[in-house]
Amino acid sequence: MSEPLLEVRDLSRMFGGIRAVEGLSFDAERGRVTGLIGPNGAGKTTVFNLITAVYKPTSGSIRLGGTDLAGRRPDEVVRSGVSRTFQNIRLFNRMTCLENVMTPILARASCGPIASLFGTPSARREQSEARERAYAIMRDIGIEESAHRAASTLPYGLQRKLEIARAIACSPSLLLLDEPAAGMNDSETRELGETIVRIRHDFDVTILLIEHHIQLIMNICAHIVVMERGALLASGSPDEIREDPRVVDAYLGRHRDRRSAR
Ligand SMILES: Nc1ncnc2c1ncn2[C@@H]1O[C@H](COP(=O)(O)OP(=O)(O)OP(=O)(O)O)[C@@H](O)[C@H]1O
Ligand SMILES: [Mg+2]
Repeated sequence: MSEPLLEVRDLSRMFGGIRAVEGLSFDAERGRVTGLIGPNGAGKTTVFNLITAVYKPTSGSIRLGGTDLAGRRPDEVVRSGVSRTFQNIRLFNRMTCLENVMTPILARASCGPIASLFGTPSARREQSEARERAYAIMRDIGIEESAHRAASTLPYGLQRKLEIARAIACSPSLLLLDEPAAGMNDSETRELGETIVRIRHDFDVTILLIEHHIQLIMNICAHIVVMERGALLASGSPDEIREDPRVVDAYLGRHRDRRSAR
């Protein structure tokens, strides 16, 4: 086993009297896709909000590549190599896809806004390099043809992919995906799975994936972490999770019931 990129230890977060996350420990291995699953309200998105410093932990620690992220601001966490997508899509709606993907690249560029305004040679070079890189990312993710469309005019599935492209443009070592298949049909979901596997490889990124689409999780995750009511219920390989009676009772069973009731 390779060393973990992300180490979560005894992580807890209270909201008033609600224990959204309680004593949670797990690892995400470098270069793998790790699934984070559990029923609605289990605390999955809160884990992402804690990793990205949207919320501070009530207790516990989060380490990235051996470095404690405690006390960092959200923008510092991004610079440390963590980027994410949101359960409710958040894009720059009036910007084109290309501009959405170029924005994080230019934000890291060395020329300031004044140099860009006056179009100095180095600023022009940075612009054209950012454009090239944005196109390469969009090509990889399969949204290149929509490069000049406003983000808000894209179908839902493509907006989700654009959000992933923009997250990749931050050059993360750890990519957090919060329900990227939400609202997609089975064939779109299968194709998204292939895209996630490809970007893991092409951009050398470690992925933590929240999904309710169990087939997607089982197909692409090397390791799965199951939460229930804020705590760790189980963790293991897809086969171990599929066979685990606690998971079947608490989650997969309920999931199956819901599906067969449709
Ligand atoms: N900012 C907040 N203030 C108060 N309670 C919160 C806040 N954020 C989350 N919670 C509560 O924490 C618990 C976990 O919520 P969370 O959104 O992390 O669940 P989840 O596993 O992502 O669920 P879902 O699958 O529905 O997205 C819920 O009871 C939720 O209401
Ligand atoms: Mg959630």
